[in-house]
Amino acid sequence: MIILDSIAAMQQQARDWRRAGEQIVFVPTMGNLHAGHIALVEAARSQAEHCVVSIFVNPGQFGPEEDFATYPRSFDADCGKLKAAGVDCVFAPSTEAMYPEGKDACTSIMVPGISDVLEGEHRPGFFTGVATVVNKLFNCVRPDIAIFGEKDFQQCLVIQRMVRDLDLSVKIVTLPTVREADGLALSSRNAYLNAEQRQIAVRLSICLGRLVAAIHQPGEINFAVIHASQELEQQGFEVDYVVIRRQRDLQVPAASDTALVALAAVRLGAIRLIDNVPFILENA
Ligand code: PAF
Repeated sequence: MIILDSIAAMQQQARDWRRAGEQIVFVPTMGNLHAGHIALVEAARSQAEHCVVSIFVNPGQFGPEEDFATYPRSFDADCGKLKAAGVDCVFAPSTEAMYPEGKDACTSIMVPGISDVLEGEHRPGFFTGVATVVNKLFNCVRPDIAIFGEKDFQQCLVIQRMVRDLDLSVKIVTLPTVREADGLALSSRNAYLNAEQRQIAVRLSICLGRLVAAIHQPGEINFAVIHASQELEQQGFEVDYVVIRRQRDLQVPAASDTALVALAAVRLGAIRLIDNVPFILENA
């Protein structure tokens, strides 16, 4: 497994593979890898000759009050896991390499509409930071295919929309959320949970599961959402949002929409957790 920290070296490696007629599959990450990332890598490996994983904690997607400085970093352990998973290349540029004049001086990509709701409302600028860095990473790695986890459901839609709008020549593949045995969605930020918070955290996925099970027709959505929000608060969360939206654009569903998703963001003290459950309304 090769480890590259220079953008020029990554671009040269991608050129060499492409010249040889070989395809590249790419999994972008911010490191601190867990089984969810490794599931993406394992699915990636069968899709192309070469699998590249980036490790870059992107300052552009953290707000001033957020955890950029303390975000868990575990580069050596991450590389060990990626080598064991059969990755060809780790791309790990420095912040200075990616943003030589600082992130705020960098050209940015704003994906309208889909970036403005839910996470976008609660984390202003977040999706501009994500779209900008993913575009930059695509320009370094030049992938044929890129793989993202549906745990970040809205992020997947933002990336798909950016690829479509900017005519980028990369296929986006999204894969279902990986969960702990009790249902908690895997996330690097789960590392912040103490034992008591970990016991509460699992109730987020349980509550979303109950919310989805309670909805059989569009007329039941509002009541079920209010009930879910109250239940989450009773369980000890502060609720940023819990909603049912349509899968394709996260807008409020019309009566005819059947492909829906339950999404929630909650806080346990300073720790913010998100989760989602996509579902089809069979009886609509
Ligand atoms: O999902 C993540 O880990 C990040 O948002 C990503 C896609 C690696 C961009 O920094």
